[in-house]
Amino acid sequence: MATFNVNDIRNDFPILSEKAYGKPLVYFDNAATSQKPKVVIDALVNYYMHDNANIHRGVHFLSQRASEAFDNVREKVRAFINASSEKEIIFVKGTTEAINLVAATYGRKNIGKGDEILISAMEHHSNIVPWQLLCEEKGAVLKVIPMNDKGELLLDKLNTLLTERTKLVSLVHVSNSLGTINPVKHIISLAHQKGIPVLIDGAQSTAHAPIDVQDLDADFFAFSGHKILGPTGVGCLYGKLPLLEEMPPYQGGGEMISSVTFEKTTYNEVPYKFEAGTPNIADVIALGTAIDYWNNLDRPGAVAWEEELLEYATSKISAIPGVRIIGTAEKKAGVLSFVIEGVNAMDAGMYLDTKGVAVRTGQHCTEPVMLRFGVPGTLRASFMFYNTKEEIDCLMENLGKAIQLLQPQTAL
Ligand code: ALA
Repeated sequence: MATFNVNDIRNDFPILSEKAYGKPLVYFDNAATSQKPKVVIDALVNYYMHDNANIHRGVHFLSQRASEAFDNVREKVRAFINASSEKEIIFVKGTTEAINLVAATYGRKNIGKGDEILISAMEHHSNIVPWQLLCEEKGAVLKVIPMNDKGELLLDKLNTLLTERTKLVSLVHVSNSLGTINPVKHIISLAHQKGIPVLIDGAQSTAHAPIDVQDLDADFFAFSGHKILGPTGVGCLYGKLPLLEEMPPYQGGGEMISSVTFEKTTYNEVPYKFEAGTPNIADVIALGTAIDYWNNLDRPGAVAWEEELLEYATSKISAIPGVRIIGTAEKKAGVLSFVIEGVNAMDAGMYLDTKGVAVRTGQHCTEPVMLRFGVPGTLRASFMFYNTKEEIDCLMENLGKAIQLLQPQTAL
């Protein structure tokens, strides 16, 4: 494993040499989706060029080769998040589907009228709406852990929020719009003291630091492939085996069955019970290649570099008058959200775009977070280990220009 060197790393990502409007691309929208190393892109092409066949259904050469490549990835994912068994890994479209799966199966079975589901004030819409749908259907109640002005959860409220009626806690690990790293291990242990299972939304956290679901003692853990250098359209749900075994199926179709007659169908074993239909074979295989990439990376070096980038960017932006950072938690991962006095976030984002700098603007699928901070939206620069300080300098320089151009001038 090579020691972390950002310039070497960048050569692995072809897109980082792209130009936007003739200017070097500066990609700071990693929280929306990460870029892909060439090996991942090659894995996709290679699959379609050489291995394409449906899996678990054919005796022929290609089907067996594709099945083997697909099945190997379950073990890679298991090791990547340190699950105790491959059976605990379910392939889904992404974090959103993983959460919806838990709501539709575990939730429908175990949550009833008057029961409570506890989420936090900094959830992505995908960890709010599935629970609202379930609450509406079942007459259950959605409760919310509030946060302070820094974007940290008010943990002292947990004692009263975790009640006898709480049937599930569903919590984001790292906030996509604030960058806050939540103390999920602690919260899980508090919930477990009351016998309440916890789902962790790991969409952002999985890219920022190694995940150990056994150490966290998470009951469910969801993440997306495309945010961790893999392709879009694939993600994973981890669930503790006893929970998965008790859960009813998610969707009906092929693969999830053991036997079908018109009178009665019996279901396949976990995890196949939750994987109806032809899976996303190519993208699962390429996700396996992304995991290989992480395994070959100097991970502590990458984590330290990303922390250095965040610190550098935070100190630079703090020196710009009129900028207010939204999300100043003590523990943060690579997200810098901010507003500029008198400047519309979208206008500033569009100006930055003309300079080749890609940031996200708006509510980041977290409208309640924006309401909490009293802002219509933010500009968000989100970092990955392949970003550089020179790119941050470019962002800051152009931000200064955007402010000069867009901020209303005080009358002389
Ligand atoms: N949830 C993704 C983001 O934060 C799309 O941008």
